Amino acid sequence: MKEIELLTRFAHNFLDSKILADCYQSSEKAYNTLLSKKGAGSDYLGWIDLPTQIKKEDIQRIQSIAERIQKNSEYLVVIGIGGSYLGARAVIEALSNPFDQYKANKTKIIYAGHQLDPDYHNSILDFLKDKDFSVNVISKSGTTTEPAVAFRLLIDLLEKKYGKDGTKQRVFATTDSAKGALKKFSDEYGFETFVIPDDVGGRYSVLTPVGLLPIAVAGVDIGLLVEGSVTMRDQLLNEKNPKENLATRYAAFRNAIYQSGKKVEILVNYNPAFHYFSEWWKQLYGESEGKGKKGIFPASVDLTTDLHSMGQYIQDGERMLFETVVTFSQPNKDIVLDERDGDLDGLNYLKGKNLSWVGSKATLGTLVAHTDGGVPCLELVVPRLDPINLGKLIYFFEFACGVSGYMLGVNPFDQPGVEDYKNNMFALLGKKGYESKKAEIEKKLV
Ligand code: PA5
Repeated sequence: MKEIELLTRFAHNFLDSKILADCYQSSEKAYNTLLSKKGAGSDYLGWIDLPTQIKKEDIQRIQSIAERIQKNSEYLVVIGIGGSYLGARAVIEALSNPFDQYKANKTKIIYAGHQLDPDYHNSILDFLKDKDFSVNVISKSGTTTEPAVAFRLLIDLLEKKYGKDGTKQRVFATTDSAKGALKKFSDEYGFETFVIPDDVGGRYSVLTPVGLLPIAVAGVDIGLLVEGSVTMRDQLLNEKNPKENLATRYAAFRNAIYQSGKKVEILVNYNPAFHYFSEWWKQLYGESEGKGKKGIFPASVDLTTDLHSMGQYIQDGERMLFETVVTFSQPNKDIVLDERDGDLDGLNYLKGKNLSWVGSKATLGTLVAHTDGGVPCLELVVPRLDPINLGKLIYFFEFACGVSGYMLGVNPFDQPGVEDYKNNMFALLGKKGYESKKAEIEKKLV
């Protein structure tokens, strides 16, 4: 089976060889720190061995509940925010046919709890009032406001439609094993629950029930996803040469580019299904590395679409960017372009060519243009977009993020900055215990 590769041909010219050599050395050190489990945030390293600890029975339980939901629900509402939602959405959207939403006989996944907009909530409540639906509410802390508000609104609707007993059959809670309001709520109401392991943080939790349950309901083979992550784990744990190990290689290059003055990394894709994977990646890297006034700023574009919006800036704006371009070597099914009488659209010169071939020329042309414009580009070449390769990509990016965070000298497994907005919001909402914070904020508002 072909492996995922990292090509650096469009980055080398931008790099000082001494900086790169130092980064390789530091990536090796960071790799050892990660695996020794003695670095910062070592209480949250459960994700390293997680793929090998997922038992057949765990997958079977998730599958059988997913089948139950598929039988009685046209929609599954996944309620969560950040790491409690992005991983599931990344995989579901990457592996689902976007037009399946128009098919009647399939459980569709919709999302709530990832913002507080009244219009969105009104729309979802209105839409679901005459549909059969279930809810998977996901929150590790069990206290995050956005999902808690959405859950309150949706459980009200469920109770109106199905009564207390019917609601019990339609709510699935994924949360901490012991702490938090959601755990208490679930115990009291008797909801089916799934546990998020204590030592796995939100953004590293896609391969726990946080991601696996909604992904299974969407019809993706979660066994293959896990299999892919196990294969990547073996690969990364066994390859000790930092120049050959995919994760240390990626971490070394992105840090060397960062040290050369490029502060923004754009994850580039040429497949619209990959959009939410980039959102997941942005959270993973942004929340893990953006600390202590340092860190590469993670951004993303969907090409070729965004070449007609962001392309100008990337080509010619301020030179602070580098790219990591994800491509898939093989489409799941190709399309051949036919000849057309008259050639009024001028495309007959492409007669007999595959659409993937046309796309590959767009990719190469863009890579050359962007490097000519001063943007170093790394290429991550993935054999195809399927559950196994997506499982590999997830594990690869998680592992490389741990290595890269340690290289940068931060704790890649906490998110102290996220608490600041939460505390201010609680104070402004009038939550008990936040009175002095409220007074402090009010002084700043005059
Ligand atoms: O990665 C993280 O830890 C965060 O993004 C959390 O996933 C997010 O804040 C949601 O937290 P919770 O699952 O506790 O509701």
